[in-house]
Amino acid sequence: MENPNFSKVRIAYFSGTGSTSRVATAFERELAGRGVSVLMSEIRAGFPLSEDNEDLLLLLFPVHAFNAPEIVYNWIDRTLYEKSISAAVISVSGGGELSPNTACRLNSIHRLEKKGYSVVYEKMLVMPSNCFVKTDDRLAIRLLRVLPSKVKCITDDLMRGVVHRTTPKFIDRVFSRVGEFEKRGAKAFGENIQVNNNCNACGWCKRSCPANNISMLNNRPMFGVECLLCLKCIYGCPNKALEAGTLKFTILKEGYDLNALEKRMEGVELAPVEDLAKSYLWKGVKKYLLED
Ligand SMILES: Cc1cc2nc3c(=O)[nH]c(=O)nc-3n(C[C@H](O)[C@H](O)[C@H](O)COP(=O)(O)O)c2cc1C
Repeated sequence: MENPNFSKVRIAYFSGTGSTSRVATAFERELAGRGVSVLMSEIRAGFPLSEDNEDLLLLLFPVHAFNAPEIVYNWIDRTLYEKSISAAVISVSGGGELSPNTACRLNSIHRLEKKGYSVVYEKMLVMPSNCFVKTDDRLAIRLLRVLPSKVKCITDDLMRGVVHRTTPKFIDRVFSRVGEFEKRGAKAFGENIQVNNNCNACGWCKRSCPANNISMLNNRPMFGVECLLCLKCIYGCPNKALEAGTLKFTILKEGYDLNALEKRMEGVELAPVEDLAKSYLWKGVKKYLLED
């Protein structure tokens, strides 16, 4: 193990509904606290990468269908300069490092390696799930509270030169490939988003869409074919004016708002993890919270 002494780190992150941007901020805080210079690059359509001399790339993304969202692949392939520096890939999921999530970083790691990066570290972080099944508030708040210490452990590893790479099972690789079909579903999802009467044409959705997939026509949002199914517009619309027209089952009817969750749970005593994460669905979350 050698001490790599990273002094300038680029944190490149994609986030739909805010979990991964919280993770990015936690890393920024941790690294800055150690005197490391940090460059923050949010992955969005139309934002080119500035040339810089960082010595570590920290790539963060939410897991989408056992994979990374398409925009992350595009960013690596089309925007990232070729470099022979170290990289770490951190995936952020609602389910944790359990089958079939475990192959979710493979594709982005291969792409980074093609660009000359030496991927020295990979890990899964867990945040409350933003789709299909709501994470119980008491479990969700635990995930938010444990984040700084998880980020500290990873930063310790990186600074000490610990190498951490995984070898996903064959079946998880297959699932990851199958998950690629979600990208087609995402396009259909975007094209079918419905605008209800609450819309006051404020343009928040147009400004916020990380894929630049929304335009305004006659004071109504119009959706193109570049949707990433990140759910930012649906959950974030200040007037609750957007609804899924297809794949409705992906949407949490309670919405997804981490700030509201923190407010609701202020002062609430934390229940034991074992009481909260019982079924197979939460097995990976439980493991994450109980491991050190
Ligand atoms: C379309 C879609 C697919 C997802 N697929 C998975 C998945 O395969 N495994 C998982 O554990 N979580 C999955 N999630 C949950 C997200 O990875 C998780 O909630 C993440 O924290 C969201 O990050 P963000 O708020 O930065 O977008 C999915 C979420 C979406 C919107």
